[in-house]
Amino acid sequence: MTTREWDAATYDRISAPQLRWGLAVLERLALAGDERVLDAGCGSGRVTERLLERLPRGTVVALDGSEAMLQEAARRLAPHLSRVELVHADLGQPLPAMAPVDAILSTAVFHWVPDHDALLRHLAAVMRPGGRLVAQCGGAGNVASVLRAACEAGEGWDGPQHFATAGATRRRLEVAGFVEVETWLHEEPTAFEAGEQLTTFLRTVILGAHLERMPPERHDAFVQAVAARLGPHPVVDYVRLNILATRGSPGRRAESAEP
Ligand SMILES: C[S@@+](CC[C@H](N)C(=O)[O-])C[C@H]1O[C@@H](n2cnc3c(N)ncnc32)[C@H](O)[C@@H]1O
Repeated sequence: MTTREWDAATYDRISAPQLRWGLAVLERLALAGDERVLDAGCGSGRVTERLLERLPRGTVVALDGSEAMLQEAARRLAPHLSRVELVHADLGQPLPAMAPVDAILSTAVFHWVPDHDALLRHLAAVMRPGGRLVAQCGGAGNVASVLRAACEAGEGWDGPQHFATAGATRRRLEVAGFVEVETWLHEEPTAFEAGEQLTTFLRTVILGAHLERMPPERHDAFVQAVAARLGPHPVVDYVRLNILATRGSPGRRAESAEP
């Protein structure tokens, strides 16, 4: 497994930046309203809920690698569960057999999956030809100042995240069988209040994987040390990698992902 558990209730409460970005990404997905759409890494379901509003006659496969996130999503999506399939799976592994989806939405997830070639292959395998992939995740340079601070304050480890470039991602998509590919990076500097707001966010989201490697008694000191390095008016240097692509017909696969 390339997945980990999350503090899902806290994520649901503090994920305003991810919700804001996710809704902008959802706007890019053209829908007739009756499709079957995979939300790849649905988390606590805040973006999924808004996706369901766009699918009054459709269904959503809400997939995540964290049981706690899926439980939180089940609570949030309770009024719509007749139109939602909750799936516990690792996007780094071949996905469980499912009826092909018409589209895939994914927000703030891909950078947590180490092997993007495998990830995109697994997504392509569950899509119908002509289906759209609309996604955003952390891209090259994302949260660099926080990871630098974490390196200085911790064990010299800069985390498991895979922040890809637009060019490498475009090539990977083509190799995985996607066409009409567009990828680009944009900066999303995001201000936090120093103190509890910042430390809760660091603990729950950016440094979650770092903390998993440490004994619990070291968590507070580590998070405080990272927060202190970000100064009294912290602005996290988020960089988002945007992806638009269409699943090509089988047989139209490029030869290699390398430049
Ligand atoms: C930052 S949250 C984003 C959740 C939601 N898409 C949003 O925008 O609020 C990242 C999510 O990706 C999930 N995730 C990370 N790696 C994964 C993997 N390999 N397979 C499935 N889900 C994964 C996590 O469990 C978590 O729920």
